[in-house]
Amino acid sequence: MKNKMTSNTAELALTAQALVAPGKGILAADESEGTIKKRFTSIGVSSTEENRRAYRELLFTTLNMAEAISGVILYDETIHQEDAEGRPFPQLLQQKGIIPGIKVDQGKIDLPGFDGETVTEGLDGLGQRLDHYRELGAKFAKWRAVFTIGDHLPTRTGIQVNAHALARYAALCQAHGIVPIVEPEVLMDGEHDMALCELVTGAVLQAVFAELLAQGVSYEGMLLKPNMVLPGKDSGQTVSPEEVAEATLRCFRRTVPAAVPGIVFLSGGQSAEEATVRLNAMNALDESPPWALSFSYGRALQQPVLQAWQGKQGNIPEAQRLFYHRAKCNSAARSGTYSPQMELATAA
Ligand code: 13P
Repeated sequence: MKNKMTSNTAELALTAQALVAPGKGILAADESEGTIKKRFTSIGVSSTEENRRAYRELLFTTLNMAEAISGVILYDETIHQEDAEGRPFPQLLQQKGIIPGIKVDQGKIDLPGFDGETVTEGLDGLGQRLDHYRELGAKFAKWRAVFTIGDHLPTRTGIQVNAHALARYAALCQAHGIVPIVEPEVLMDGEHDMALCELVTGAVLQAVFAELLAQGVSYEGMLLKPNMVLPGKDSGQTVSPEEVAEATLRCFRRTVPAAVPGIVFLSGGQSAEEATVRLNAMNALDESPPWALSFSYGRALQQPVLQAWQGKQGNIPEAQRLFYHRAKCNSAARSGTYSPQMELATAA
């Protein structure tokens, strides 16, 4: 087993810690072209390159966002784009004290021979791409693997091949001076209850950390981006934020090494307020967990922003106000000090 501390290990650990600094979390703005098209269609905006650029500029030029946002995950197109004044987005973020990151997986394909399973692609040539993104200013990366709960799913093989690919990606990132965010997402889709989600999430995390260890990944220089433990969307089960917090923390205490500096949750289709309330409940339940409990939300930070923007220049101030507000609510959730009154304050 490789266990050598390379010269950049300390730098990786510092970046990972900065991404989960107190009161701060990550904005996931790395929607692929297909996904952003879906989001834009929902508000009647066509997905042209200029509209995508203008929307990301809206997000990244929000005043004082660095109070609550430590890093932004970009997409390949976005990391090459500029604001209206010709400043490259990574540079614009750096000037605000925000760390640029990059999604480097290339999406999932069906896993041959295993109906309903997928495996994430993007390892070929990844080292070269990482060097290119690093030159553009990226200090961290993201790779998402997806697991579905269903009839006989996920399979051992589905878990294993994705865990192996996540670890290959993470080891490559660290060798190229980039902090890997390791994202195994157990989907909310389905009729399963919360107990089954806990079981599957635990099995996935065990396999992922076994592979990370086997491939010599430094836990100190990475972050984990998991789902929360939740009942399936169509289960009919209702659970309180405290129940989610208990199940999620129990699962992670059993499977996530304490050397990992932070757990940055994905929102995965929860409403913006649910994602905040549940993160808050975790930090309220456990004041000194082994890892920072933070956020790396896409939809839960952006949904209200998209709704307010509607592709219109005149709506930008209101859209930015809502983005700042959601970021601040999640910032408060980092210390368990969020309260629903915060929502009323902005509605006024
Ligand atoms: P959501 O918070 O919308 O799930 O997105 C986070 C993400 O980066 C998914 O890969």
